Amino acid sequence: MTQTARQVLQLNSSILGDNSVSNQLLATLTERLQAAGEKLEIQQRDFSVEPVPHFDEHWLQALMTPEADRSDSQQQKVDFSDTLIAELKAADILIIGLPMYNFSVPSMLKAWNDHVARAGATFKYTDTGPVGLLENKKVFLVAAMGGVHKVGESDYLRPYMQQFLGLLGLTDISFVTASGLNMGEEPRAEGISRAEAEIDAAVQAYRQKYSKQNQDYKEEEAA
Ligand SMILES: Cc1cc2nc3c(=O)[nH]c(=O)nc-3n(C[C@H](O)[C@H](O)[C@H](O)COP(=O)(O)O)c2cc1C
Repeated sequence: MTQTARQVLQLNSSILGDNSVSNQLLATLTERLQAAGEKLEIQQRDFSVEPVPHFDEHWLQALMTPEADRSDSQQQKVDFSDTLIAELKAADILIIGLPMYNFSVPSMLKAWNDHVARAGATFKYTDTGPVGLLENKKVFLVAAMGGVHKVGESDYLRPYMQQFLGLLGLTDISFVTASGLNMGEEPRAEGISRAEAEIDAAVQAYRQKYSKQNQDYKEEEAA
């Protein structure tokens, strides 16, 4: 029997294409996971190739209209959001590129967040507050920053994404950060090399944590 592939949802949110550090680090991360023995089936969304529209009043109206009463255009809007949510639910591993734009996330990633955070689908309201409905997913957040920023000072990127994913129930998060990318050649190279070391540590930690499942896969494979 062959090893069951892990379903990966990879979100590229940089506007810099091949010159993007977060895009390059996402590629490094998936390569190193595969080199460590993970079989991956990767579903990629690159927001600069296929932007996610803002979740505006037309989308809200479409979702609030009963299915039987929706226009074709409203149904298309609901289908689009449903597809994003289905991709997220299907993923075992979520890998997100986080370029820092104006201290926070790129607006296209924020738009994706607004589509996938849906009460009744990815979280629910309870008497004690919202509770996430997504479970058993590993998240890798790969941040890239022109400067150097600390959580609690000028970094609203990593804490915001952590808070957001927590709303959905996603709490098993590994952070990788490349800082100082626009501060000159040397700081840039150091920032990338530190991030690559963080990728290795995150892959190792992931492999250890999931070693029981990996062992099961190996036994299945040998059977
Ligand atoms: C629109 C825009 C806003 C940015 N804002 C910040 C910022 O607030 N702080 C910072 O350190 N770098 C900022 N930068 C620099 C990026 O974080 C840096 O170029 C990083 O490499 C982006 O990730 P990427 O290479 O994956 O695109 C900004 C870049 C752009 C294009």
